[in-house]
Amino acid sequence: MLEKIKQLAEEVKSTVAQTADEAEQLRIKYLSKKGLVSQLFDEFKTIPNEQKREVGKVLNELKVMAQEKINELKDSFQASSHDQGNVDLTLPGTSFEIGGRHPLSIVKNEIVDIFGRLGFTIAEGPEIEDDWHVFTALNFPLEHPARDMQDTFFIAQDPDILLRTHTSSVQVRVMEKQKPPIRAIFPGRVFRNEAISARAHCIFHQVEGLFIDKNVSFADLKQTLLYFAKEMFGQDTKIRLRPSYFPFTEPSAEMDISCSLCGGKGCNVCKGSGWVEILGCGMVDPAVLECNNIDSSEYTGFAFGMGIERITMLRYQIKDIRLFFENDVRFLEQFRSAD
Ligand code: DAH
Repeated sequence: MLEKIKQLAEEVKSTVAQTADEAEQLRIKYLSKKGLVSQLFDEFKTIPNEQKREVGKVLNELKVMAQEKINELKDSFQASSHDQGNVDLTLPGTSFEIGGRHPLSIVKNEIVDIFGRLGFTIAEGPEIEDDWHVFTALNFPLEHPARDMQDTFFIAQDPDILLRTHTSSVQVRVMEKQKPPIRAIFPGRVFRNEAISARAHCIFHQVEGLFIDKNVSFADLKQTLLYFAKEMFGQDTKIRLRPSYFPFTEPSAEMDISCSLCGGKGCNVCKGSGWVEILGCGMVDPAVLECNNIDSSEYTGFAFGMGIERITMLRYQIKDIRLFFENDVRFLEQFRSAD
């Protein structure tokens, strides 16, 4: 009897059907009440009791296998009938998730758009830079603390090769290649050896701007930045420039905008002052122009630099800078419709 079961199992395993009808015929042949498998079950009743355990097990396996095989054949005809055009078009489709842009990209694109309307083009430079482009050509004195190991990531042991600490380095790259007039912005990633906290990260993003031409004045700088602030934070936004210091600009300033959250009344975002700082700026120092072979008696220019994280945090009231880098979809999916 075991031999018979084995033979039938082989037969079932290798059986094929060309149509759904044939598959049904096979079901009748093997699994119906009078089918071959059922006949074996009848025969099973007649064998000696000592053999029942062993034979019963194998026989059951045959039955299960035959059922699975026939179902498989039948399913294959159902599936391929779709291919032949019998698709039920009224069935709902399978929906799939589409990703969205990262909030930093959304804001970067917006900044690029706003300055694009004022005729600024985009340029980019390398993230791994040398001392000349990040510091020396930008008028950083040798003993300036920004060159210190604590702020700058150096590559290997070479003090000349480093990760750029600001996108101002792209100013130098552009001045090397292009003669004035220059009107461009430089978005990109920057690196600083800083402890990571809710307000600071060792990797972040900046947009730098540079405008060099004849007769460019501080008034041009102010008007350009006022336009930017209003486009970015709303038409009621006011700006305020406070005197500051940067090696590459003279005079230098930091720009505050009236707090977009409380409208200037004072809240915890602006720490009660009604103003929040968003960027640094100034007139390009003549020493920087000369360093880059631009005649400072003929040309003047302005520059500015801002952190994209900071603008994004203000724009969307995000309290912790680390959220930008964690790739948590619960955070990211909130910006899907903002693009
Ligand atoms: N490079 C400065 C920084 O990383 C930002 C900056 C300030 C850029 C003033 C400028 C500028 O072009 O004029 O903090």
